[in-house]
Amino acid sequence: MSSEKEQALAAALSRLPRVKLASVLPTPLEELPRFSAAVGGPPIYIKRDDLTGLGYGGNKTRMLEFSLAEALRHDADVIVTGAGVQSNYCRQMAAACARLGLELHLLLRPIREVDHHQVQGNHLLQWLFGAKCTILPDADSEKQGKAILARMEELKKQGRRPYWPRQADTVDIDALAYAESALEIAQQSRAQGISPSHVYLAALDTTQSGVVLGLRFVESQIRVKGFSPFEKWPQRFENMARIANQGAARLGLRMEFKAGDFDNDDSQVGERYGIPTPQGLEALRLLARTEGILLDPVYTSKAVAGLIAEVRAGKLGRDRPVVFLHTGGSPAIFGYAPEVLGA
Ligand SMILES: Cc1ncc(COP(=O)(O)O)c(C=O)c1O
Repeated sequence: MSSEKEQALAAALSRLPRVKLASVLPTPLEELPRFSAAVGGPPIYIKRDDLTGLGYGGNKTRMLEFSLAEALRHDADVIVTGAGVQSNYCRQMAAACARLGLELHLLLRPIREVDHHQVQGNHLLQWLFGAKCTILPDADSEKQGKAILARMEELKKQGRRPYWPRQADTVDIDALAYAESALEIAQQSRAQGISPSHVYLAALDTTQSGVVLGLRFVESQIRVKGFSPFEKWPQRFENMARIANQGAARLGLRMEFKAGDFDNDDSQVGERYGIPTPQGLEALRLLARTEGILLDPVYTSKAVAGLIAEVRAGKLGRDRPVVFLHTGGSPAIFGYAPEVLGA
């Protein structure tokens, strides 16, 4: 790993428009001795991106520093977006818009029956941060896209300047925030005298694209293994490569990524997106009880379940440390209380 390369990446990232939203950067890299002993694995470290700070933090806070700077560059005065009702992205977006004085319209897909009426967890916080929330009649994402465009048209007719972040031509901006997290992991590992074999994470697209881009650019040997929260999406490898290529081009870096550069496993999804699994809930309870750290029921718990499964299958040695990149999401726990309790 070369510190010249690290400096070059930091310099390239520093040229992107950015607004300050996170309270804690760099996030800590901490050892989990009691958790590692409980799973019988190698030394497991955790990169605390759950602690980025804004509105309970998480991976999207890093991304919003860049993507909302882009929105402001387009002179936006209102943000329109959507995801699932218990979306961490929408919760962090709501906190960020509150901080920046931007109006926010959220068009949210109900993933479970309870999402039609329950105001809890991330959804409660979206309201509290002042977002104008609409729960759509069903979980169809195509209809959601149309509803977002229709809302933007209405707003334009009122003389407003709506902006929808994280679209095909801008999604790489979110990924680049994770090249910075990867840079921190490389630097903190060196400072702590460890040489991790892997970074594990919950990832569908931008987070893994950015981490792979960052680690490859600084010539790190650390391998990246993502666990998908989403079922049946074989195109995710091409998608991650496309995002990484677009991000590299935006930074002016000469790099090329292919689908095969991304190791992403969907064996932990279970029934479907948004429905917890017994293995994920076991991981969530174990980390809580051994280290006092909260995962979430939809993303990170399934990824830690994947890491535990690799330890149990003997895929990791006992000596080389691994890093789990905690992307946040713990407020969702309150929207899943019966499942988390096992009731
Ligand atoms: C807690 C958590 N982890 C991981 C992810 C996946 O992030 P990405 O879409 O960048 O792959 C999300 C996405 O919302 C998330 O909320």
